[in-house]
Amino acid sequence: MPILTRRNLLKASAVAGAYGVGLGFAGKFGGRALAAEPQVLKTVKTQASLADSGVTRDVLTYGDAGQPPVVRMRKGEPFAARLINGIDDPTTIHWHGIRLPNKMDGVPFLTQPYVYTGDHFDYAFTPPDAGTFWYHPHCNTLIQMGHGMTGVIVVENPKDPTFDSEVVLNLRDWRLGGDGQFIAQFRPRDSAKSGTYGTVRTANWQQQPQYDAPSGGLVRLRLAITDVTRIYSFRMDGAQATVIAIDGNPVPERFPLDLLQLGPGQRLELAVRMPDEEGAIVKLEDIRGTTPKVLATLRSIGGSLKRDVRDLAPLEDNPVAKADIGAAQHIPLILSATAENTSADSICGSLGYSFWAINKVPWPGDTPDPTAPLAELKLGKSYVLDMENVTPHAHPIHLHGMSFTVLSSSTRQVPPFVSDTYLIQPDEKVQLGFVADNSGDWLLHCHIIEHQKTGMTSYMRVA
Ligand code: C2O
Ligand code: CU
Repeated sequence: MPILTRRNLLKASAVAGAYGVGLGFAGKFGGRALAAEPQVLKTVKTQASLADSGVTRDVLTYGDAGQPPVVRMRKGEPFAARLINGIDDPTTIHWHGIRLPNKMDGVPFLTQPYVYTGDHFDYAFTPPDAGTFWYHPHCNTLIQMGHGMTGVIVVENPKDPTFDSEVVLNLRDWRLGGDGQFIAQFRPRDSAKSGTYGTVRTANWQQQPQYDAPSGGLVRLRLAITDVTRIYSFRMDGAQATVIAIDGNPVPERFPLDLLQLGPGQRLELAVRMPDEEGAIVKLEDIRGTTPKVLATLRSIGGSLKRDVRDLAPLEDNPVAKADIGAAQHIPLILSATAENTSADSICGSLGYSFWAINKVPWPGDTPDPTAPLAELKLGKSYVLDMENVTPHAHPIHLHGMSFTVLSSSTRQVPPFVSDTYLIQPDEKVQLGFVADNSGDWLLHCHIIEHQKTGMTSYMRVA
């Protein structure tokens, strides 16, 4: 009789989960997840120490841990969560970057009803990909996310190489006044530009937190930009940092971190080789803008483990289908500014302005009257998004439900990253290839939330 070690169990359930064995098998992502113990994610209003000037009231989060939550899943294994809404505002959960059945995607009206105060909604799916993802509401998003509701998701793969330590950082700002209390979440004139920035910068709700890691060891540093506005340019000071994954997917070839720019919604995984000397400090910095800003530090502890990053085995590729570029149909997608059609008020939040549009149509999303889809795609066929940014600002454009491969850019050499969010620069044209292998209505929007909610939102229908 085979011995049921934890590892064997994981393997067995991984196979079953990934291919939807169980009730109601309905295609690649439609398979009903096998029963998993649901994790309770209860939205709460709480307070937290974010600024030096005082405890901030009206912080919104999931659970009451006093720090941002981290949800762990396993690749190919069923996951279930019950959202219980404990705040005075309807909400939903969107599982950013996770390829799942459309009805689990958390978009009000398009995929599910919003969840009223005191109500709940059950999510269940099997993540097909390992990596760093995150979750957040998709209703009244600017306020709910702005006040704290974001959590990192780590999808583990038992086949991952061994690190000596792991640090997960939820990177975001808060718009607080001098008294440490929330101020207006946006200024319209900034929404029409690069967005309204926060006033207090944090990693895991702390200013410049420090984490210990073994000297000479390899740290798996997982970063998620959950801010509503800020674009970061990452640099590591005091250690060698190697980029191993971006947006949940292993990079085609590892490269040293050197001013990598990523926007809201994006994730980065680094292998950091800690210095050999005990007590050495390694700094993660953002150098976008004028003065370099330290986001968090790592401190070497103990005798050197003398690890070498070159010994680190590759991460397993995620099972993302490769587009057949020769046969692909092209979908033009133009990002522009607009002054038309001030959006009507809606229960999931309207900012009352239209500044942006996709293919000339401004739509804030999360409303009961969706515009026509940007495109209707045939299930299983390959497509190329020809995306062009004719605005003077960068936009992190996020596609729900499917991962794309970056094929080419008009302005730079881009490796063929697999991703769910592309940070497009002013005047850039980019081609993103993907297979429409997940049926349903899938949102596509800028992840600078003020841009999203003032028009830079659309969706594609796959059937
Ligand atoms: Cu994180 Cu609709 O997105
Ligand atoms: Cu934008």
